[in-house]
Amino acid sequence: MTARNLFLLPGDGIGPEAMGEVRKIIAYMNEAMNAGFVTDEGLVGGSAYDAHGAAISEADMQKALAADAVLFGAVGGPKWDDVPYDVRPEAGLLRLRKDLQLFANLRPAICYPALASASSLKPELVEGLDILIIRELTGGVYFGEPKEIIDLGNGQKRGIDTQIYDTYEIERIAGVAFEMARTRNNRVCSMEKRNVMKSGVLWNQVVTETHKAKYSDVQLEHMLADAGGMQLVRQPKQFDVIVTDNLFGDMLSDVAAMLTGSLGMLPSASLGAPDGKTGKRKALYEPVHGSAPDIAGKGIANPIAMIASFAMCLRYSFNMVKEADDLEKAIANVLDKGIRTGDIMADGARQVGTVEMGDAILAEFKALTA
Ligand code: IPM
Ligand code: MG
Repeated sequence: MTARNLFLLPGDGIGPEAMGEVRKIIAYMNEAMNAGFVTDEGLVGGSAYDAHGAAISEADMQKALAADAVLFGAVGGPKWDDVPYDVRPEAGLLRLRKDLQLFANLRPAICYPALASASSLKPELVEGLDILIIRELTGGVYFGEPKEIIDLGNGQKRGIDTQIYDTYEIERIAGVAFEMARTRNNRVCSMEKRNVMKSGVLWNQVVTETHKAKYSDVQLEHMLADAGGMQLVRQPKQFDVIVTDNLFGDMLSDVAAMLTGSLGMLPSASLGAPDGKTGKRKALYEPVHGSAPDIAGKGIANPIAMIASFAMCLRYSFNMVKEADDLEKAIANVLDKGIRTGDIMADGARQVGTVEMGDAILAEFKALTA
């Protein structure tokens, strides 16, 4: 069979620990299922800066571009707080997103039944929660120019970021949202700030037109992004798919993540457009949590978001739907058994570390796939 090429970028902080648990699953799938994964590994973020003086080396960028999928851990930490802005750890992630043209960021927020009580909201508000945030990832204020601090010469400086969206960027992310909605509950809520931003006015228009032209079978609603944030904590289950820009998506997905009990639970997929010839999309999979430097190296980090990101990789990059379902089921089963890392610990549960959690999920996955 043809090899499935994975490029692993564990990064900083708890990234390497979480990635270690995915490596075990990959090894098992190769051994027991003849999955044919071939892995290579590189450096990103602070660890790349320490080795190469850049947030990611050119050689590793080439490997990321050539791989079928990139698995990404996390970047950043206080050690690199003072490195030059252009080579700060986050620059590695942003470059990967931009150069691989990963414009569609899928961030599911699913509340596992066993974790409803770990949410900061009342259990009945989050039990069974299943929403999908689709965040535009290669445009908006993250990348718009000018982006600078200028000296006004009078003792004042001016910081400038620029929010820009072109029609095609809104059209293609709206298309992803509508397509995804069709595989779920067929509802999309688009969020912007058309009451203060021109880019919001255009966003609203283009989403409306795209809907009318191609996706009128899907139910579409518009919400101002601030009201959307409020509704997310008021009544999260009203949403199915949320589509929004890069910056609002960054914030709203952190809010949605916490509804599910812990930031340590949430996976994400960042996808490019399907290749004209092969139909393949470039893709990067990463947990939504960051590098968590405060707990790094202690063996207590929750590897579930990283493992669930690998499940998304199986689903979206390799069409291994059964395996993805089984891996997600394995996570749910382990939680049902009351096995917990510290961040999702509950009364009566058994607290374990990163490796034990990974082992428990792998054992469950083996049982489901045997
Ligand atoms: C995220 C992160 C990144 C972002 C940072 C690390 C640059 O917060 O993926 O949500 O802002 O996009
Ligand atoms: Mg974020």
